[in-house]
Amino acid sequence: MISNRASEALAGGSLIRKMFDEGARMRRELGSDRVYDFSLGNPDLPPPGLVASAIRELAFDPPPDLHFYMNNAGHEAVRSAIARRIARRTGLPVAASRVLMTSGAAAGLNAALRVLLDPGDEVLVLAPYFVEYPAYIRNHGGQPVIVPCDPETFLPDPGRIAAAMTPRTRVLLLNSPNNPSGVIYPAPVLVSVRDALARRGEELGTRVTVLSDEPYADIVYDGRTVPETLSIFTDMILCTSYSKSLALPGERIGYAVVHPGAEDGDRLFAAMVQAHRSLGFVNAPATFQRVIQRVYDALDALPDGAAGEGGALVDVRRYEVRRNRLHGILTEAGFECRLPEGALYLFPRAMIADDVAFAMACTKEGILLVPGSGFGMPGFVRLAFCVDEGMIERSREAFLRVGRTFGTR
Ligand SMILES: Cc1ncc(COP(=O)(O)O)c(C=O)c1O
Repeated sequence: MISNRASEALAGGSLIRKMFDEGARMRRELGSDRVYDFSLGNPDLPPPGLVASAIRELAFDPPPDLHFYMNNAGHEAVRSAIARRIARRTGLPVAASRVLMTSGAAAGLNAALRVLLDPGDEVLVLAPYFVEYPAYIRNHGGQPVIVPCDPETFLPDPGRIAAAMTPRTRVLLLNSPNNPSGVIYPAPVLVSVRDALARRGEELGTRVTVLSDEPYADIVYDGRTVPETLSIFTDMILCTSYSKSLALPGERIGYAVVHPGAEDGDRLFAAMVQAHRSLGFVNAPATFQRVIQRVYDALDALPDGAAGEGGALVDVRRYEVRRNRLHGILTEAGFECRLPEGALYLFPRAMIADDVAFAMACTKEGILLVPGSGFGMPGFVRLAFCVDEGMIERSREAFLRVGRTFGTR
Protein backbone atom coordinates (compact mmCIF):
# COMPACT_ATOMS: atom_id res chain seq x y z
CA MET A 1 0.00 0.00 0.00
CA ILE A 2 2.58 2.61 1.00
CA SER A 3 5.43 3.79 -1.24
CA ASN A 4 8.99 2.52 -1.00
CA ARG A 5 10.04 5.99 0.11
CA ALA A 6 7.54 6.00 2.97
CA SER A 7 8.59 2.45 3.93
CA GLU A 8 12.22 3.52 4.14
CA ALA A 9 11.32 6.56 6.22
CA LEU A 10 9.28 4.41 8.60
CA ALA A 11 12.06 1.85 8.98
CA GLY A 12 14.54 4.64 9.75
CA GLY A 13 12.20 5.89 12.50
CA SER A 14 13.34 8.37 15.07
CA LEU A 15 15.34 7.27 18.09
CA ILE A 16 13.49 9.95 20.05
CA ARG A 17 10.14 8.38 19.23
CA LYS A 18 11.49 4.93 20.09
CA MET A 19 12.57 6.20 23.50
CA PHE A 20 9.19 7.87 23.92
CA ASP A 21 7.40 4.55 23.27
CA GLU A 22 9.83 2.81 25.60
CA GLY A 23 8.92 5.42 28.24
CA ALA A 24 5.20 4.66 27.91
CA ARG A 25 5.95 0.95 28.38
CA MET A 26 8.16 1.62 31.39
CA ARG A 27 5.58 3.88 33.04
CA ARG A 28 3.02 1.09 32.74
CA GLU A 29 5.42 -1.42 34.26
CA LEU A 30 7.30 0.61 36.89
CA GLY A 31 4.84 3.44 37.66
CA SER A 32 5.45 7.09 36.71
CA ASP A 33 7.45 7.92 39.85
CA ARG A 34 10.20 5.51 38.90
CA VAL A 35 10.62 6.64 35.28
CA TYR A 36 12.94 9.59 34.58
CA ASP A 37 12.07 10.69 31.08
CA PHE A 38 14.56 13.13 29.53
CA SER A 39 13.81 12.10 25.95
CA LEU A 40 11.50 14.78 24.55
CA GLY A 41 12.16 18.51 24.14
CA ASN A 42 8.57 19.47 24.90
CA PRO A 43 8.61 22.82 26.77
CA ASP A 44 6.57 22.31 29.93
CA LEU A 45 6.48 25.88 31.33
CA PRO A 46 3.34 27.95 30.75
CA PRO A 47 3.40 30.65 28.05
CA PRO A 48 4.19 34.11 29.45
CA GLY A 49 1.50 36.47 30.70
CA LEU A 50 1.09 38.59 27.56
CA VAL A 51 0.17 35.48 25.56
CA ALA A 52 -2.61 34.56 27.97
CA SER A 53 -3.98 38.15 27.87
CA ALA A 54 -3.90 38.18 24.07
CA ILE A 55 -5.75 34.86 23.86
CA ARG A 56 -8.35 36.11 26.33
CA GLU A 57 -8.88 39.37 24.39
CA LEU A 58 -9.24 37.53 21.09
CA ALA A 59 -11.70 35.03 22.58
CA PHE A 60 -13.92 37.68 24.17
CA ASP A 61 -13.61 40.41 21.55
CA PRO A 62 -12.69 38.76 18.25
CA PRO A 63 -12.15 40.82 15.10
CA PRO A 64 -14.74 39.80 12.48
CA ASP A 65 -12.11 38.20 10.21
CA LEU A 66 -10.32 36.29 12.99
CA HIS A 67 -10.67 32.88 11.38
CA PHE A 68 -10.51 33.95 7.72
CA TYR A 69 -7.89 33.02 5.14
CA MET A 70 -5.52 35.92 4.56
CA ASN A 71 -2.59 36.83 2.30
CA ASN A 72 -0.62 33.56 2.30
CA ALA A 73 2.43 35.33 3.71
CA GLY A 74 0.43 36.23 6.82
CA HIS A 75 -1.23 39.25 8.40
CA GLU A 76 0.50 42.48 7.43
CA ALA A 77 0.40 43.88 10.99
CA VAL A 78 2.30 41.01 12.56
CA ARG A 79 4.80 40.81 9.69
CA SER A 80 5.46 44.54 10.12
CA ALA A 81 5.89 44.17 13.89
CA ILE A 82 8.46 41.42 13.34
CA ALA A 83 10.26 43.31 10.56
CA ARG A 84 10.48 46.44 12.77
CA ARG A 85 12.02 44.49 15.62
CA ILE A 86 14.59 42.78 13.40
CA ALA A 87 15.47 46.08 11.70
CA ARG A 88 15.94 47.73 15.11
CA ARG A 89 18.15 44.85 16.33
CA THR A 90 20.32 44.50 13.24
CA GLY A 91 20.20 47.94 11.60
CA LEU A 92 19.24 46.17 8.36
CA PRO A 93 16.38 47.43 6.17
CA VAL A 94 14.18 44.38 6.84
CA ALA A 95 10.63 44.99 5.62
CA ALA A 96 7.36 43.12 6.13
CA SER A 97 7.60 42.14 2.45
CA ARG A 98 10.42 39.73 3.43
CA VAL A 99 8.70 38.19 6.48
CA LEU A 100 6.65 35.03 5.95
CA MET A 101 4.52 33.76 8.82
CA THR A 102 4.98 29.97 8.98
CA SER A 103 3.52 26.96 10.75
CA GLY A 104 6.53 26.76 13.07
CA ALA A 105 10.19 26.63 12.13
CA ALA A 106 9.63 23.19 10.62
CA ALA A 107 7.33 24.59 7.93
CA GLY A 108 9.70 27.49 7.22
CA LEU A 109 12.61 25.09 6.77
CA ASN A 110 10.58 22.87 4.46
CA ALA A 111 9.40 25.82 2.37
CA ALA A 112 12.98 27.10 2.09
CA LEU A 113 14.40 23.72 1.12
CA ARG A 114 11.58 23.33 -1.38
CA VAL A 115 12.58 26.49 -3.23
CA LEU A 116 16.36 26.08 -2.95
CA LEU A 117 16.79 22.45 -4.02
CA ASP A 118 16.52 20.55 -7.24
CA PRO A 119 16.63 16.74 -6.97
CA GLY A 120 20.16 15.59 -6.13
CA ASP A 121 21.30 18.94 -4.73
CA GLU A 122 23.32 18.77 -1.55
CA VAL A 123 22.74 20.36 1.84
CA LEU A 124 25.56 20.65 4.35
CA VAL A 125 24.37 19.66 7.80
CA LEU A 126 26.60 20.28 10.81
CA ALA A 127 26.65 17.39 13.28
CA PRO A 128 25.32 17.20 15.89
CA TYR A 129 22.05 18.27 14.25
CA PHE A 130 18.30 18.34 14.90
CA VAL A 131 17.05 14.83 14.10
CA GLU A 132 14.49 15.90 11.51
CA TYR A 133 16.90 17.70 9.15
CA PRO A 134 17.74 14.69 6.94
CA ALA A 135 14.03 13.95 6.50
CA TYR A 136 13.26 17.58 5.65
CA ILE A 137 16.03 17.59 3.05
CA ARG A 138 14.90 14.31 1.50
CA ASN A 139 11.31 15.63 1.36
CA HIS A 140 12.54 17.86 -1.47
CA GLY A 141 14.84 15.43 -3.26
CA GLY A 142 17.95 16.83 -1.57
CA GLN A 143 20.94 14.96 -0.28
CA PRO A 144 22.16 15.63 3.28
CA VAL A 145 25.95 15.86 3.55
CA ILE A 146 26.97 15.56 7.19
CA VAL A 147 29.89 17.70 8.34
CA PRO A 148 31.00 16.87 11.90
CA CYS A 149 31.71 19.68 14.36
CA ASP A 150 34.67 19.48 16.73
CA PRO A 151 33.72 16.73 19.25
CA GLU A 152 35.19 18.71 22.17
CA THR A 153 33.66 22.14 21.47
CA PHE A 154 30.82 21.20 19.09
CA LEU A 155 31.81 24.20 16.97
CA PRO A 156 31.74 24.16 13.16
CA ASP A 157 35.06 23.75 11.36
CA PRO A 158 35.18 26.12 8.35
CA GLY A 159 37.90 23.99 6.70
CA ARG A 160 35.76 20.86 6.86
CA ILE A 161 32.77 22.78 5.55
CA ALA A 162 34.75 24.04 2.55
CA ALA A 163 36.12 20.54 1.94
CA ALA A 164 32.61 19.08 1.90
CA MET A 165 31.39 21.52 -0.77
CA THR A 166 30.82 20.28 -4.32
CA PRO A 167 29.26 21.86 -7.40
CA ARG A 168 25.92 20.43 -6.13
CA THR A 169 26.06 22.16 -2.73
CA ARG A 170 23.17 24.60 -2.47
CA VAL A 171 22.54 25.09 1.23
CA LEU A 172 24.32 25.17 4.58
CA LEU A 173 21.96 24.46 7.44
CA LEU A 174 22.92 26.19 10.69
CA ASN A 175 21.34 25.81 14.12
CA SER A 176 22.54 27.90 17.02
CA PRO A 177 21.85 27.69 19.94
CA ASN A 178 22.17 24.10 18.96
CA ASN A 179 19.87 21.19 19.58
CA PRO A 180 21.35 18.91 20.95
CA SER A 181 24.72 20.39 22.02
CA GLY A 182 23.45 23.64 23.60
CA VAL A 183 26.37 25.51 22.05
CA ILE A 184 26.01 29.06 20.69
CA TYR A 185 28.19 29.50 17.62
CA PRO A 186 30.26 32.66 18.29
CA ALA A 187 30.33 35.49 15.75
CA PRO A 188 34.01 34.99 14.74
CA VAL A 189 33.30 31.31 13.97
CA LEU A 190 30.31 32.30 11.84
CA VAL A 191 32.40 34.89 10.02
CA SER A 192 35.01 32.22 9.25
CA VAL A 193 32.26 29.92 7.99
CA ARG A 194 30.95 32.72 5.76
CA ASP A 195 34.41 33.39 4.35
CA ALA A 196 35.04 29.68 3.75
CA LEU A 197 31.73 29.37 1.87
CA ALA A 198 32.60 32.39 -0.27
CA ARG A 199 36.17 31.25 -1.05
CA ARG A 200 35.26 27.68 -1.95
CA GLY A 201 32.09 28.83 -3.73
CA GLU A 202 34.21 31.09 -5.94
CA GLU A 203 36.48 28.18 -6.87
CA LEU A 204 33.47 25.99 -7.68
CA GLY A 205 31.48 28.77 -9.34
CA THR A 206 28.55 28.25 -6.94
CA ARG A 207 26.68 30.23 -4.29
CA VAL A 208 25.52 28.58 -1.12
CA THR A 209 22.48 29.86 0.78
CA VAL A 210 22.64 29.72 4.56
CA LEU A 211 19.48 28.42 6.15
CA SER A 212 19.64 29.43 9.79
CA ASP A 213 17.27 27.62 12.14
CA GLU A 214 16.97 29.67 15.33
CA PRO A 215 14.05 28.55 17.52
CA TYR A 216 16.27 28.75 20.64
CA ALA A 217 17.64 32.26 20.02
CA ASP A 218 15.92 33.55 23.19
CA ILE A 219 16.63 30.49 25.35
CA VAL A 220 20.11 31.41 26.56
CA TYR A 221 21.82 31.30 29.95
CA ASP A 222 24.33 33.16 32.11
CA GLY A 223 23.41 36.46 30.43
CA ARG A 224 24.66 35.35 27.03
CA THR A 225 23.45 36.69 23.70
CA VAL A 226 23.28 35.02 20.30
CA PRO A 227 25.11 36.62 17.35
CA GLU A 228 22.81 38.14 14.73
CA THR A 229 23.26 35.79 11.79
CA LEU A 230 21.48 38.30 9.52
CA SER A 231 24.34 40.72 10.22
CA ILE A 232 26.92 38.12 9.14
CA PHE A 233 25.43 36.28 6.15
CA THR A 234 23.64 37.87 3.18
CA ASP A 235 22.49 34.96 1.05
CA MET A 236 20.46 33.76 3.96
CA ILE A 237 17.02 32.71 5.13
CA LEU A 238 16.28 32.77 8.85
CA CYS A 239 13.65 30.35 10.17
CA THR A 240 12.34 30.50 13.69
CA SER A 241 9.27 30.04 15.82
CA TYR A 242 7.56 30.83 19.11
CA SER A 243 7.55 27.12 20.05
CA LYS A 244 10.26 27.61 22.68
CA SER A 245 10.42 31.35 23.41
CA LEU A 246 6.68 31.60 24.12
CA ALA A 247 6.23 27.88 24.93
CA LEU A 248 3.71 27.39 22.12
CA PRO A 249 5.01 24.30 20.27
CA GLY A 250 1.59 22.79 19.64
CA GLU A 251 0.21 26.00 18.12
CA ARG A 252 2.57 25.88 15.11
CA ILE A 253 3.50 29.52 14.82
CA GLY A 254 6.77 30.98 13.57
CA TYR A 255 8.24 32.98 10.73
CA ALA A 256 10.92 33.02 8.05
CA VAL A 257 12.88 36.07 6.88
CA VAL A 258 14.63 36.39 3.55
CA HIS A 259 17.66 38.65 4.02
CA PRO A 260 17.12 42.10 2.41
CA GLY A 261 20.42 41.69 0.54
CA ALA A 262 19.86 38.09 -0.65
CA GLU A 263 20.48 37.48 -4.33
CA ASP A 264 17.16 37.49 -6.21
CA GLY A 265 15.50 38.01 -2.82
CA ASP A 266 12.07 39.11 -4.05
CA ARG A 267 11.64 36.00 -6.18
CA LEU A 268 13.06 33.84 -3.42
CA PHE A 269 10.48 35.27 -1.01
CA ALA A 270 7.59 34.87 -3.49
CA ALA A 271 8.64 31.26 -4.09
CA MET A 272 8.70 30.59 -0.34
CA VAL A 273 5.18 31.92 0.11
CA GLN A 274 4.05 29.70 -2.74
CA ALA A 275 5.89 26.67 -1.31
CA HIS A 276 4.46 27.19 2.20
CA ARG A 277 1.01 27.22 0.60
CA SER A 278 1.43 24.30 -1.77
CA LEU A 279 3.10 22.10 0.82
CA GLY A 280 -0.26 22.26 2.55
CA PHE A 281 0.44 24.75 5.32
CA VAL A 282 -1.54 27.38 3.30
CA ASN A 283 -0.98 30.11 5.90
CA ALA A 284 0.28 30.16 9.47
CA PRO A 285 -2.50 29.73 12.08
CA ALA A 286 -4.61 32.87 11.99
CA THR A 287 -5.44 33.22 15.69
CA PHE A 288 -1.85 32.81 16.79
CA GLN A 289 -0.63 35.35 14.26
CA ARG A 290 -2.95 37.79 16.06
CA VAL A 291 -1.70 36.61 19.44
CA ILE A 292 1.89 37.37 18.43
CA GLN A 293 0.87 40.76 17.06
CA ARG A 294 -0.85 41.65 20.33
CA VAL A 295 2.14 40.55 22.35
CA TYR A 296 4.32 42.93 20.32
CA ASP A 297 1.71 45.72 20.51
CA ALA A 298 1.65 45.34 24.29
CA LEU A 299 5.45 45.49 24.44
CA ASP A 300 5.54 48.59 22.23
CA ALA A 301 3.07 50.29 24.55
CA LEU A 302 5.40 49.89 27.53
CA PRO A 303 7.58 52.87 28.40
CA ASP A 304 11.08 52.47 26.97
CA GLY A 305 13.11 50.02 29.00
CA ALA A 306 10.38 49.82 31.69
CA ALA A 307 9.77 46.12 31.48
CA GLY A 308 12.05 45.13 28.65
CA GLU A 309 10.83 41.86 27.20
CA GLY A 310 9.14 41.04 30.53
CA GLY A 311 5.93 39.12 30.02
CA ALA A 312 6.90 38.17 26.48
CA LEU A 313 9.37 35.38 27.15
CA VAL A 314 9.02 32.04 28.86
CA ASP A 315 10.69 31.88 32.29
CA VAL A 316 14.23 31.14 31.05
CA ARG A 317 15.58 31.51 34.57
CA ARG A 318 13.63 28.40 35.58
CA TYR A 319 15.20 26.44 32.73
CA GLU A 320 18.57 27.69 33.91
CA VAL A 321 17.94 26.34 37.42
CA ARG A 322 16.99 22.96 35.94
CA ARG A 323 20.04 22.98 33.66
CA ASN A 324 22.31 23.64 36.62
CA ARG A 325 20.72 20.96 38.78
CA LEU A 326 20.75 18.22 36.13
CA HIS A 327 24.28 19.13 35.12
CA GLY A 328 25.31 18.90 38.79
CA ILE A 329 23.77 15.44 39.12
CA LEU A 330 25.41 14.18 35.92
CA THR A 331 28.79 15.53 36.96
CA GLU A 332 28.43 13.95 40.40
CA ALA A 333 27.63 10.62 38.70
CA GLY A 334 30.83 10.89 36.67
CA PHE A 335 29.50 12.03 33.30
CA GLU A 336 31.68 14.22 31.10
CA CYS A 337 29.31 17.05 30.17
CA ARG A 338 29.66 20.65 28.98
CA LEU A 339 27.35 23.23 30.48
CA PRO A 340 24.99 24.25 27.64
CA GLU A 341 24.94 27.96 26.75
CA GLY A 342 21.43 27.84 25.33
CA ALA A 343 18.52 25.58 24.23
CA LEU A 344 17.01 22.89 26.44
CA TYR A 345 19.44 19.97 26.36
CA LEU A 346 22.49 18.45 28.00
CA PHE A 347 24.71 16.41 25.68
CA PRO A 348 27.17 14.37 27.76
CA ARG A 349 29.46 11.63 26.53
CA ALA A 350 27.95 8.16 26.85
CA MET A 351 29.87 6.14 29.44
CA ILE A 352 30.56 3.39 26.92
CA ALA A 353 31.45 3.80 23.25
CA ASP A 354 28.12 2.44 21.99
CA ASP A 355 25.63 5.22 22.79
CA VAL A 356 22.60 3.15 21.74
CA ALA A 357 23.61 0.29 24.08
CA PHE A 358 24.28 2.87 26.81
CA ALA A 359 20.81 4.45 26.40
CA MET A 360 19.24 0.98 26.58
CA ALA A 361 21.27 0.19 29.72
CA CYS A 362 20.01 3.44 31.31
CA THR A 363 16.42 2.30 30.83
CA LYS A 364 17.16 -0.48 33.35
CA GLU A 365 17.46 2.32 35.94
CA GLY A 366 14.29 3.97 34.65
CA ILE A 367 16.25 6.70 32.80
CA LEU A 368 15.19 7.66 29.29
CA LEU A 369 17.62 9.62 27.15
CA VAL A 370 18.33 9.72 23.42
CA PRO A 371 21.47 8.25 21.82
CA GLY A 372 23.69 10.79 20.03
CA SER A 373 23.60 8.61 16.89
CA GLY A 374 20.16 10.07 16.20
CA PHE A 375 21.80 13.51 16.02
CA GLY A 376 24.68 12.37 13.83
CA MET A 377 27.07 12.23 16.79
CA PRO A 378 27.59 8.71 18.16
CA GLY A 379 29.26 8.39 21.55
CA PHE A 380 27.01 11.00 23.20
CA VAL A 381 23.51 11.06 24.66
CA ARG A 382 20.94 13.86 24.88
CA LEU A 383 18.85 14.77 27.90
CA ALA A 384 16.08 17.37 27.68
CA PHE A 385 15.86 19.46 30.85
CA CYS A 386 12.49 21.09 30.09
CA VAL A 387 11.03 18.66 32.63
CA ASP A 388 9.63 18.83 36.14
CA GLU A 389 12.17 19.80 38.83
CA GLY A 390 10.87 16.99 41.07
CA MET A 391 11.72 14.40 38.45
CA ILE A 392 15.25 15.80 38.09
CA GLU A 393 15.71 15.50 41.85
CA ARG A 394 14.25 11.99 42.01
CA SER A 395 16.52 10.83 39.17
CA ARG A 396 19.74 11.48 41.14
CA GLU A 397 20.06 8.04 42.72
CA ALA A 398 19.41 6.35 39.36
CA PHE A 399 22.18 8.41 37.68
CA LEU A 400 24.55 7.64 40.54
CA ARG A 401 23.86 3.92 40.03
CA VAL A 402 24.55 4.28 36.29
CA GLY A 403 27.78 6.08 37.20
CA ARG A 404 28.83 3.28 39.56
CA THR A 405 28.10 0.66 36.90
CA PHE A 406 29.79 2.34 33.93
CA GLY A 407 31.83 5.26 35.21
CA THR A 408 35.57 5.37 35.45
CA ARG A 409 35.68 7.70 38.47
C1 LIG B 1 16.60 22.81 16.15
C2 LIG B 1 15.14 22.73 15.92
N1 LIG B 1 14.66 23.16 14.76
C3 LIG B 1 13.34 23.12 14.49
C4 LIG B 1 12.45 22.60 15.40
C5 LIG B 1 11.01 22.59 15.05
O1 LIG B 1 10.39 23.59 15.76
P1 LIG B 1 8.93 24.15 15.44
O2 LIG B 1 8.06 23.69 16.55
O3 LIG B 1 9.11 25.61 15.42
O4 LIG B 1 8.53 23.62 14.12
C6 LIG B 1 12.91 22.13 16.64
C7 LIG B 1 11.97 21.54 17.61
O5 LIG B 1 12.32 21.02 18.63
C8 LIG B 1 14.30 22.18 16.90
O6 LIG B 1 14.81 21.73 18.05
